[in-house]
Amino acid sequence: MIKMKINNPSLEKIAVKKSQYPQANLPEIALAGRSNVGKSSFINTLINRKKLARTSSQPGKTRTINFYNIDDKFRLVDLPGYGYAKVSKAERDKWAGYINDYLDQRENLLDVFLIIDFRHGPSELDLVMYDYILESGFSGIVIASKFDKVKKSQQEKNLKMIYEKLQLKDKSLLIPFSAESKHNKDLVLNKIEEILKA
Ligand code: GTP
Ligand code: MG
Repeated sequence: MIKMKINNPSLEKIAVKKSQYPQANLPEIALAGRSNVGKSSFINTLINRKKLARTSSQPGKTRTINFYNIDDKFRLVDLPGYGYAKVSKAERDKWAGYINDYLDQRENLLDVFLIIDFRHGPSELDLVMYDYILESGFSGIVIASKFDKVKKSQQEKNLKMIYEKLQLKDKSLLIPFSAESKHNKDLVLNKIEEILKA
């Protein structure tokens, strides 16, 4: 399989409301998931940039919708994380509003990847998000991040736990991933290529 090459990724736009989104002229793939799960790190890994997407060990780093233009071919859309208990409810509601408005209104949204933590599996909010993703007719790809943090002896067990909790019918929907070791980076790039071609 020929590997997708990314030559010139850029942060095209930062937005919180529809009037601020870039033109809907490119297909978009968005990353949804809990705060601190690794959405921004996932983007950096795919595009081979250490810091283009801002990351932090503190949850709640991404508070806006950040549109990354990938070679004028498509966009990766970094969403704020949900479920971060240490910010006020008002603040959480505000971020949830940004996320919901984007998911509900973006006509060029081609797919949404759910990112969950490989160590812990899906949270209650992840299950709600995943239902939404399936109901919306997206492919249902789940990225299980921080794969490097799970011992080999635990990997099978965690995979099984995640399959069951998300009731996945097709095992290829679940992709263990590591921004640290870059595990499955090429597989994800190939998936994206397939999605863009479909
Ligand atoms: P918010 O913007 O707060 O929603 O978080 P996020 O989902 O964008 O997470 P971010 O990419 O900022 O990563 C959070 C922390 O997890 C950072 O300290 C990252 O270095 C770390 N991290 C992300 N992915 C991995 C991974 O695959 N392996 C390891 N070991 N650490 C990771
Ligand atoms: Mg982030």
